[in-house]
Amino acid sequence: MGERVRGKVAIIFGAGQTPGETIGNGRATALLLAREGAAVVAVDREVRSAQETVDLIAGEGGTAMAVQADITGEEQVREAIAACMAAHGRIDILHNNVGASLALGDAPATELEVEAFDRLYAVNLRGMWLACKHTLPVMREQGSGSIVNISSMAAWEAYPYVGYKTTKAGVIALTHNIAMENARHGIRANVILPGLMNTPMAIEARVAAGTPGEEVIASRDPAGAAGEEDGLGLGCGLCLALPPLRRSEVHHRRFVAGRRRRERLLRATSSGRGAPQPRRRQ
Ligand SMILES: NC(=O)c1ccc[n+]([C@@H]2O[C@H](COP(=O)([O-])OP(=O)(O)OC[C@H]3O[C@@H](n4cnc5c(N)ncnc54)[C@H](O)[C@@H]3O)[C@@H](O)[C@H]2O)c1
Repeated sequence: MGERVRGKVAIIFGAGQTPGETIGNGRATALLLAREGAAVVAVDREVRSAQETVDLIAGEGGTAMAVQADITGEEQVREAIAACMAAHGRIDILHNNVGASLALGDAPATELEVEAFDRLYAVNLRGMWLACKHTLPVMREQGSGSIVNISSMAAWEAYPYVGYKTTKAGVIALTHNIAMENARHGIRANVILPGLMNTPMAIEARVAAGTPGEEVIASRDPAGAAGEEDGLGLGCGLCLALPPLRRSEVHHRRFVAGRRRRERLLRATSSGRGAPQPRRRQ
């Protein structure tokens, strides 16, 4: 067991996972936070899945409880936060993991149905805002807290389906707003933009629908999917650091882009060409 968040309380929305062989990001984050000493409140629409996460944590000697809530319902979000407060009396870390694309009916711009777009908006963006809305008063009262929102590299890079791309872009703006407006309360907000990760939702679901795994990966990211280690680091890298807050920042973590840059650098230095120059942003 680590010590980096010993005594902290972490509430994670989307702490279960889509069924499959590999581990989902929310579950991986919950496990790592618990291993580092946090008491975890695992919230999910699928309470059985949240309970599985709790059982895994308990099996390692950690502390966790499962709460059922659908992030699209304000009352349910409010009640989940109230359950966390009733059990622990504080919230140090809010981790917003809920998000999906194809599972919500995402499609290219000319094919997306209005109902599907509304669903994507409600799950990927409005739900995240609701979790922030009802956690912020608690953190302001405490004078401290860390919020981690999960966006996606799809917000910045080419991605065929318009609902996921636009709502994940909205998550960046949401986090920026929350970070800048709450720094004076000692609250930090960060957004993480993962590249393709080997989770059941991203890969196994598409394989089950008939696309070979290598094709799924190649269509999203020729550099390959990040595995469990990255998943475990994903949710926690920022909130584990938890330095004393002076000012709020928004970190755009470019996992895949960073990996590609490192690979380019390695290739260039080993071939004696020298480091490549950074590309100018338009
Ligand atoms: N896996 C990737 O390649 C990848 C890449 C970039 C970003 N992401 C983001 O990471 C996050 C997690 O992805 P994952 O692959 O681990 O998914 P996952 O399906 O394993 O985890 C999402 C969890 O959220 C829960 N959930 C879904 N809708 C909900 C709702 N309305 N209310 C409450 N809970 C709900 C699900 O039951 C599930 O347990 C998502 O935000 C996703 O967009 C994933």
